[in-house]
Amino acid sequence: MPKVAVVGATGAVGRELRRLLEARSFPLDGEPVLLASARSAGTKLPFAGGEVEVRELTKDAFAGVDIALFSAGGGRSLEFAPIAAAAGATVVDNSSAFRMDPEVPLVVAEVNPHAIRNRPKGIVANPNCTTMVLMVPAKPLADAFGLVSMVATSYQAAGGAGMTGIEALIDQTRKLVEDPDRLRTDGRAVESEIVPEAFSKAIAFNVLAHCGSFLDNRYTDEEMKLVHESRKILELPDLIVSPTCVRVPVLVGHSINARMTFSRPVTREAAMAALEGFPGMIIEDGTGLGDETLAYPTPLASAGVDEVLVGRIREDLGDPNSLNLFVAGDNLLKGAALNTVQLAELLLDA
Ligand code: A2P
Repeated sequence: MPKVAVVGATGAVGRELRRLLEARSFPLDGEPVLLASARSAGTKLPFAGGEVEVRELTKDAFAGVDIALFSAGGGRSLEFAPIAAAAGATVVDNSSAFRMDPEVPLVVAEVNPHAIRNRPKGIVANPNCTTMVLMVPAKPLADAFGLVSMVATSYQAAGGAGMTGIEALIDQTRKLVEDPDRLRTDGRAVESEIVPEAFSKAIAFNVLAHCGSFLDNRYTDEEMKLVHESRKILELPDLIVSPTCVRVPVLVGHSINARMTFSRPVTREAAMAALEGFPGMIIEDGTGLGDETLAYPTPLASAGVDEVLVGRIREDLGDPNSLNLFVAGDNLLKGAALNTVQLAELLLDA
């Protein structure tokens, strides 16, 4: 059985990693090695009915570790993932540090599990949370109809920006709800009074067309992750992706509306048949008309759920080769910790 380390064990994703290792009965050699900053060293975290002491992340922390799950930010991954790999561990890295490295596989467990076998650096990358959620329905559709391009617009949870994002949304909501009239009549003034912390403008009662950092091409780094990571995961280097990433006042759960265009015509019926039975997905798709019950995905309903929710599956109004759909998934689970643990499970057999 492997010795497992969790790097960033005290964080939002780290907490889920610890819970999932336990809940999925991951075979562990003893207790996991829990690593975080010097600030947290000595803290005790619950695990499997007992407690495990957090240790400081240092270059000597990986002795005897077989699998190291990293979720402590890109800087820590860049510095310590190669050290962990050199010490003999296989790293599953949740940061963006190695995702586009040609020698590092970028894997969604249900989509391209075969890719994990080729890992010359001893590092496997976990995709971006928004890309991950979209890839689950994209894969069976791409295989069935030949995916050529996607216009993807995300609605990303504040919690995707870590604990600071969650706190900013809650604090701002509490403050602004006290004077709802001003939200209606004097919005620009209200917006300018919020001191930006996790986000560039007020996130409560608002929608921000800004996730991540702007680049020279006027897209954000978050939007470009959707472009580059989709191509790598789906093994479609020429895939055209038009991304817009938007932050919304949701605590947990990223949603994406996508218009997918294929090389072959696609009907709703054929798309449903292609999606049916693909792992890691629940179809929630009903208009409430006739004998259908009303059903469509929401980020709130996805929070705490392993599967990605897929719905609003519609033929395009103009193009017989295009399909529109709406997807929601828990950014901390499938978008981060769950896929990380699924990749660790794949490593047990690979
Ligand atoms: P710590 O709690 O000691 O700061 P989140 O994204 O939810 O804020 O979590 C970030 C995780 O990364 C936490 O576990 C955090 O530990 C860890 N981390 C942040 N900075 C460092 C660092 N310099 N060395 C090790 N771990 C770090």
